[in-house]
Amino acid sequence: MIERLKKWFAKPLSNTGEALDPDNIPTHVAIIMDGNGRWAKSRGLPRMAGHHSGMKTVKRITMAADRLGVKYLTLYAFSTENWKRPKAEVDFLMKLPQEFLSIELDDLMRNNVQVRMMGYKENLPDYTLEAVEEAIRKTANNTGLVLNFALNYGSRKEMIDAVRCIGNEVKQGRLDPDHIAERHMESFLLSTGLPDPDLLIRTSGELRISNFMLWQLAYSELWFTDVYWPEFQDEHFYEAIREYQRRARRYGGL
Ligand code: IPE
Ligand code: IPE
Ligand code: MG
Repeated sequence: MIERLKKWFAKPLSNTGEALDPDNIPTHVAIIMDGNGRWAKSRGLPRMAGHHSGMKTVKRITMAADRLGVKYLTLYAFSTENWKRPKAEVDFLMKLPQEFLSIELDDLMRNNVQVRMMGYKENLPDYTLEAVEEAIRKTANNTGLVLNFALNYGSRKEMIDAVRCIGNEVKQGRLDPDHIAERHMESFLLSTGLPDPDLLIRTSGELRISNFMLWQLAYSELWFTDVYWPEFQDEHFYEAIREYQRRARRYGGL
């Protein structure tokens, strides 16, 4: 197995001919999957066709991440602000988890992938939540890649809720305000238990964070591409990791 992996890594992974360093694969990759609508529009298709096609990219990149040895892959699928979109689009997006999992869950199981969700369950339609919860339940004992869907996720709400929980701890006399530390905040964030992302990828050329993991991205490496999510290929993913491997992470030190 190790031999096979070594051979695989030694293969040139893009036209630069440069191989990835198997000892420096980011543990946690987070992706803002953006550009589905524009991809569709550029082809004269309805926006929904872009979302549908983006679903295939989710599977492709999950498998690529798994092969590389990434441990956690967090995918921003729906933000707390995406409810502002027309109802027809929101309805369509809410049906995608069910469709995705009905097609892919068996294969995710075979690949030992553990599905998780990071976001607010409230407001999600029953069929969306049930599909996701079934996947979480079925894959709970899998020990491979953690595939974490950020669904109805928003970081400002996440942080306000965490501050509220901390306030409550203080009020109950369980926490001294002078002792509030990062670990308290982290224990109440939706990402609790996950390491911070090492690498954030955003597709579609937008250079912003859009309320995604504001606390957790403090020292993540950021990588942007103009490529729309539906056309994001394994090669683009490798390119992001190759660039990550060229970076010097200093965390404020030297
Ligand atoms: C990303 O694609 C998917 C979601 C936000 C749900 P968009 O739907 O934002 O596509 P663009 O940005 O309008 O092209
Ligand atoms: C961010 O994309 C949310 C997801 C990818 C789920 P948006 O398309 O909603 O972000 P903005 O509106 O361009 O900032
Ligand atoms: Mg967008």
